[in-house]
Amino acid sequence: MSHDEDFNNSSNPSFNDVLDARLSRRNVLRVSMGTAGAAVLGSLPLVACGGSDDEAAAPLSFPAVAKSTADVLTVPAGYTATVIYALGDPLTAATPDYKNDGTDTGFEQRAGDHHDGMEYFGLNATGTARDATGSERGLLAMNHEALTDQFLHAGGTTPNPRPAAEADKEIPAHGVSVVEVRKVNGKFAAQKDSAFNRRITPMTSMLLNGPARGNALVKTKFSASGNDCRGTINNCGTGYTPWATFLTGEENWSGYFKRADDEAARGGATARGNVSLARYGRAKNSASRHGWETAGAEDKYARFDITQTGASTDGSDDYRNELNTFGYMVEIDPYDKNVAIRKRTALGRFAHESAAFGKPAAGKPLAVYMGDDSRGEYIYKFVSAANWDAADASPANRITTGDKYLDSGKLYVAKFNADGTGQWIELNIANSAIAAHAAYDFADQGDVLVNARLAADAVGATKMDRPEWCAVHPVTGEVYYTLTNNSNRKVEPSGSSQMAVDAANPRSYTDAPTAANAPGNVNGHIIRLKETASESAATAFTWDVYLFGAQSDADLGKVNLSALTADQDFSSPDGLWFSPKTGLCFIQTDDGAYTDATNCMMLIGKPGTVGDGTTPTLSYTKADGSTLAVQTRVGAKPTAETLRRFLVGPKDCEITGISETPDGKTIFVNIQHPGEAISKANLADPTKYLSHWPGNAGYGAGGATARPRSATIVITRNDGGVIGT
Ligand code: FEO
Ligand code: CA
Ligand code: CA
Repeated sequence: MSHDEDFNNSSNPSFNDVLDARLSRRNVLRVSMGTAGAAVLGSLPLVACGGSDDEAAAPLSFPAVAKSTADVLTVPAGYTATVIYALGDPLTAATPDYKNDGTDTGFEQRAGDHHDGMEYFGLNATGTARDATGSERGLLAMNHEALTDQFLHAGGTTPNPRPAAEADKEIPAHGVSVVEVRKVNGKFAAQKDSAFNRRITPMTSMLLNGPARGNALVKTKFSASGNDCRGTINNCGTGYTPWATFLTGEENWSGYFKRADDEAARGGATARGNVSLARYGRAKNSASRHGWETAGAEDKYARFDITQTGASTDGSDDYRNELNTFGYMVEIDPYDKNVAIRKRTALGRFAHESAAFGKPAAGKPLAVYMGDDSRGEYIYKFVSAANWDAADASPANRITTGDKYLDSGKLYVAKFNADGTGQWIELNIANSAIAAHAAYDFADQGDVLVNARLAADAVGATKMDRPEWCAVHPVTGEVYYTLTNNSNRKVEPSGSSQMAVDAANPRSYTDAPTAANAPGNVNGHIIRLKETASESAATAFTWDVYLFGAQSDADLGKVNLSALTADQDFSSPDGLWFSPKTGLCFIQTDDGAYTDATNCMMLIGKPGTVGDGTTPTLSYTKADGSTLAVQTRVGAKPTAETLRRFLVGPKDCEITGISETPDGKTIFVNIQHPGEAISKANLADPTKYLSHWPGNAGYGAGGATARPRSATIVITRNDGGVIGT
């Protein structure tokens, strides 16, 4: 989903203009364009287009895919894309096929909604155990981030108080899927009768592990010990651990919880609890996104109201602390349903996206890179206390291997300097800057991790343009982060929610001809870091910007700094991944700014290294007529050989989540929320839907007038070759 949340504004911490992105000029335009052409185009299958298929194995030999606003999914000539797992698909043999008319129930045994980050875990030929090289059979573990809720119900959603029957569908449509995929007659298909299939939902019990386990901040009516918690929600990016487990990041979890406006028990605005709640998006009088707390008195609904109502001093008689049990990186063993899922509190609590491991080196600590996706939030790194033992790549017990590496270590936050250097600053209670936080008195290290944003504020971390996914180049070890966009990046910021252009976030401009959401960093960029001496535990790095997103016709001196061509231009980079097989970089977009010209897309790049480009200076004219010069660092400009558009999705979707078989010949990609802009009033009229994908491509029920569904696609080369080369 598009989520432009914003809580890093200390003097006005409840400000949240989620709506501004949704109501931007381009979103209005795309709605008013209607669907006159979509019905025709929707009858087409997944299409391949572009020029000739280059049989030479030269990098990026595929023909670039053109920008498109058609309601189809397009891949290059010579490639085939096939839908294999969509919203509602059964995960047991006994579960009925998805009717896709809003009457389906039982999402505990069906694919959830809003497919997001995804990882592939190889199986052996008989499907009995892990095989790290298994390219014919494997498990896809994937996130179901959020809902296009109108389509989940026959007549759309009912306002508060929510009917329990609606909440009972919406809650388990979130979480994680594990689904077996297997080649049958040479083509991958989901196996609905696999014993590995499972759903993990906001109701699944799991452990809190690491330094915040048992902390006073995480005691709830569900777990008075603070050792346990219930469920995971708004799972966005993912990670693949060196010991072959799945990491899932909890992103915009805060918005699922209601907090009353008359809650006096927590004290005034300067009380610790209130400072924390405001910094994480739940000031007093916060409504919940779906109103599940109104669906009944039962505990499974009541937990979504975090108002302090109980008389206890420790929070064990209500859900005042429930919010502190979300916001973590969660580890799941996809091969084993019987081991407890762990929330890894040592990796900090924020709006997690992906988790990318630095290249493991025997005898050295592991580094895990992470981002916090809200405007002006930070980039983080966890460094394990344990040194890497190569034998742990194939451990007897995967989840306790996770305990070894992810429950003890140091959490750092990044500071970017104008001269192209940067520091990792440890978030430790012993740091005097943290102890001296003006508004929050940290109790212990568990508190520092639960309130990592507040600790990072105290040490002067650099506010970034919404850190989305990160990924580590498998050859160079350099770390790439998408910074998706930031409407609050200004030349002359006013108010606490805005921030000034700086070297690492240097652009603030208007998306011509007009944009309600500008000036700001409209199209986003991809920053990258090189650790000093390539050490995982380094506390200093150098950086530059791999690519600046832009329209190809934008100002080359101020906006299109990477000189993107029409075959390369993109906006709002989000998903980011490197193929371990080829080292190619896959860039996925979740855009609301360039959607008058193109649906969201995926590009493939061959990046160079930090420092391979130039140091341009952007010149801004301030209101008083004076000039503000901002020098930045941009990597070598891409060529047609090093960056090309590979895929364009159907209407009103985002492209997110990608993984591959170990042989590099098959990739899996998620198409999230096609046609998500739908009102209850328009539900009865399919001509008002923005998308009918993948029904219009022949998948599932509904055909050309189908309700749209999030879905996983599998992409192969028609000649059986490795993807992208
Ligand atoms: Fe769920 Fe920030 O993307
Ligand atoms: Ca996104
Ligand atoms: Ca995302």
